[in-house]
This record gives sequence, C-alpha cells and structure tokens, in this order.
Amino acid sequence: MNLERTEASKSMGCTVNCATISESDNKEFLRIQQDLTTTGVSAGAGLQKAVVARLGDYEIRRCDREDIPSVIEVNMKTLPEHYSDYFYYEILSEFPETFLVAELHDVLVGYIMCRIEYGFSQLKRLGLARKGHVVSVAVNEDHRGKGIGTSLILASQEEMVKKSATECYLEVRVSNAQAIRLYQKLGFKIEGRLEAYYRDGEGALVMAAKIGK
Ligand code: COA
Repeated sequence: MNLERTEASKSMGCTVNCATISESDNKEFLRIQQDLTTTGVSAGAGLQKAVVARLGDYEIRRCDREDIPSVIEVNMKTLPEHYSDYFYYEILSEFPETFLVAELHDVLVGYIMCRIEYGFSQLKRLGLARKGHVVSVAVNEDHRGKGIGTSLILASQEEMVKKSATECYLEVRVSNAQAIRLYQKLGFKIEGRLEAYYRDGEGALVMAAKIGK
C-alpha cells in the first residue's frame, strides 16, 4: 500500500493532511477515505477541501477560490447587500480561515465571510480588542432552519479565537428579526445602532459577543 501523507491546499493556508494513494489499492483507499471523512478530513474527489464541521449530510468547510461564483449566487439570492467579485476574493485571500461555506452533495448552500480587525472594543467602554467581524452570512432559503447558520457562525468564531480575537461583532438590519433572534441565541447583544446604514436608508443594529475564554 503506497500511502503518503502530504500537506494539501497550501493556497488556502490549509493545514489539513490528506492522503495520496496508488490506484491499485482501491479497496484500501475506500476504507481510508471513510476513516478520513469520519475524522473531519475530506479525501478523494475533495482532496483539497478542508472540512471543519459536519451537520448531517451538510459539510462546513473552508471556502476556495473556485467557490466564489457560487458564494456570489447565494448572496444575490438571499441578501440586498451585494459586493464586487473583487471584494470576495480579497476577503478570501486575507482571511481564509474565517471564510467558510456550507455544502450539500457538492452544492454550495451557504457561506460566512469575516474579517479579523483590531480596534475599539464593541463590548468594553474603553480599550482595544482584536475582533472577528462577520461581514456577511447567508443560507439559501430551502436549507434554512436546519442549524447551518448557527454552524457557520460557531465554526468561524472558533477560527477567530485561534487568531486571538476576543470578541465577534456584526451589523444587522433592524427589520431582520430572524437573524437578530439567531444572534441573540448565540450570545450576541445589541451594542449600538447605526442610522441609515444601508443604501436604502434602513438602520443597522451592531451586535457583539465575547468569544473564547
Ligand atoms: N427558515 C428559517 N429559519 C427557520 C426556519 C426556516 N424555514 N424554520 C425554523 N427556523 C428557525 C430555526 O428554528 C432557528 O431558530 P432555533 O434554533 O431557535 O430553532 C433559526 O430560525 C435559524 O437558525 P439556523 O437554522 O441555525 O440558521 P439558518 O441556517 O436558517 O440561517 C440566516 C440563518 C440568518 C443566515 C438565514 O436565515 C439567512 O440566510 N437569511 C437571509 C440572509 C440574512 O439575513 N443574513 C444575515 C445578515 S446580518
């Protein structure tokens, strides 16, 4: 059995080890593939995909450059805030660890993209903090209410903590009751309000949560 461990997906900054094996050992390959997928590493066709969590048949994994067109498609369908293609690629190249996608049978159904910032704390009256900023999160309508949004946020927060962030914050439309409820459930509190934050004049709530220990 010719099995060699290699570092996969360097371009994504991915540190997950995947297996490369000879074709003749197909049976053994399938067994190992099974082992890898149950321990959170995608192998075979998805050799370069870095899975960070699973939710039933859904996979939460790092976004790759090839995913961006599908991410944009989800964004166009689900949110009134759209960005240039460049914006997505830029965030991905700067903050690959916290740009995650949710996939079901190779179809991308949701994403979260975040920045790591350093600046005034959203939670303390005075002081600076390293903060994870959720720039955008969305799940296609047919796949909502199954915990994907929650999983995307929690998985990105884990990565934020690894990057030494101590808080996580986001802006949300004042009318987006469902998202606000979800964030509150995840420990976010309303810390401020930005009038006419969106192009159509609607205001935003700034919500923030402490993350890590
Ligand atoms: N559709 C949406 N939510 C439903 C639902 C349905 N058909 N059925 C139930 N829900 C409830 C869930 O029960 C859950 O609450 P609970 O955990 O208290 O039961 C909550 O709504 C959704 O949680 P979850 O399943 O983890 O999130 P999601 O995968 O539905 O994604 C959003 C949440 C906000 C990302 C998603 O609604 C979305 O993409 N909205 C449009 C884009 C948007 O507003 N993004 C946020 C911008 S700040």
